[in-house]
Amino acid sequence: MSIPTHGSNKIPATLIPGDGIGPEIVDAVIKVLDALGAPFDWELQQGGMAGIAAGGDPLPAATLESIRRNKLALKGPLTTPVGGGFRSVNVRLREEFQLYANLRPAHSLVPGGRYEDIDLILVRENLEGLYVAFEHYIPIGDDPHAVAISSGVNTRDGSRRIVRYAFEHALKMGRKKVTLVHKANVLKALTGVFLEAGQEIAKEYAGRIACDERIVDACAMQLVLNPWQFDVIVTTNLFGDILSDLIAGLVGGLGAAPGANIGLNAAIFEAVHGSAPDIAGKGIANPTALLLAAGLMLDHVGLTDHARQLRKAIDQVLNQDKVRTGDLGGKASTNDFAMALVQRLTAG
Ligand code: NAI
Ligand code: MG
Repeated sequence: MSIPTHGSNKIPATLIPGDGIGPEIVDAVIKVLDALGAPFDWELQQGGMAGIAAGGDPLPAATLESIRRNKLALKGPLTTPVGGGFRSVNVRLREEFQLYANLRPAHSLVPGGRYEDIDLILVRENLEGLYVAFEHYIPIGDDPHAVAISSGVNTRDGSRRIVRYAFEHALKMGRKKVTLVHKANVLKALTGVFLEAGQEIAKEYAGRIACDERIVDACAMQLVLNPWQFDVIVTTNLFGDILSDLIAGLVGGLGAAPGANIGLNAAIFEAVHGSAPDIAGKGIANPTALLLAAGLMLDHVGLTDHARQLRKAIDQVLNQDKVRTGDLGGKASTNDFAMALVQRLTAG
């Protein structure tokens, strides 16, 4: 996928502040990216409740058009209104731009947690599996929900595509091993096709990237007992959803978990957390997850030096300057934290 550039060499990108704490953390992230000299030309677009307020749609046509043009977006969390017939904006974005890979790295940021030195990457298939939600009930007697049936769909092409993405990402990031996670002992067709495709792709990388396999339940236990044995994990949609939250837990939870949704037609970067209505407007949200998502975005467009500098500054501010927001046990506001980063990035 080639990223369009403007004449100025700046990279056009869509920016969606989002809802709740979204505008506060996006503001902090933009200040930090400016201090870093990240050459993005932001196109501000609405989404979520702000989109509904502006034109009655949480995903306005202008926002979709902007992402289609730029192929690149940084997005704050969006509140999906309960009721009212709105489909999840995130699901609509995944489908619209065929965002087939969900990349969720987990990296220890501050020492003293339950686990030290975690550095894992999870690659989740984002479009297939049980999430296609072909579901229905069969009524029996007076119980309309007597039987519930759900069919999952995994394709050989979709499985090859996600495993290839994981291996290519492993190569790019200098990783050593990819683990295929499945349940092919029981779901022989549904996850068997993923395992089969995965083993076939792994052969192409033999000698460069090692490959092993785990059954998902055993993998969950091993991630808790000895997470350091893993490097890159690739798995199907539902298992990826569950295991990516597990590995976020290994590094202290949502505050520091970034996510990237990579597709054929676009890539969208965001924090894993939501709009945090309980702390919105108070100026105390931790912008680290969205900052790390911006780091993934820099990596994605090939600005790996900028990304490295950003991650180094975050480490220095958290661990040397000891400037931390409340969720990490500190007293800093969102803005204090952003200013400490700006200081680090502009000093010398
Ligand atoms: P949430 O992630 O917004 O909040 C869970 C808890 O974590 C809250 O106590 C919150 O204060 C805290 N938290 C989250 N981010 C934080 C940060 N950056 N700094 C400090 N504390 C933080 O999850 P919740 O409450 O279940 O969802 C709220 C809304 O967000 C819902 O409307 C949901 O649909 C939406 N959501 C949107 C997502 C997205 O756009 N990608 C992802 C997840 C939820
Ligand atoms: Mg999830």
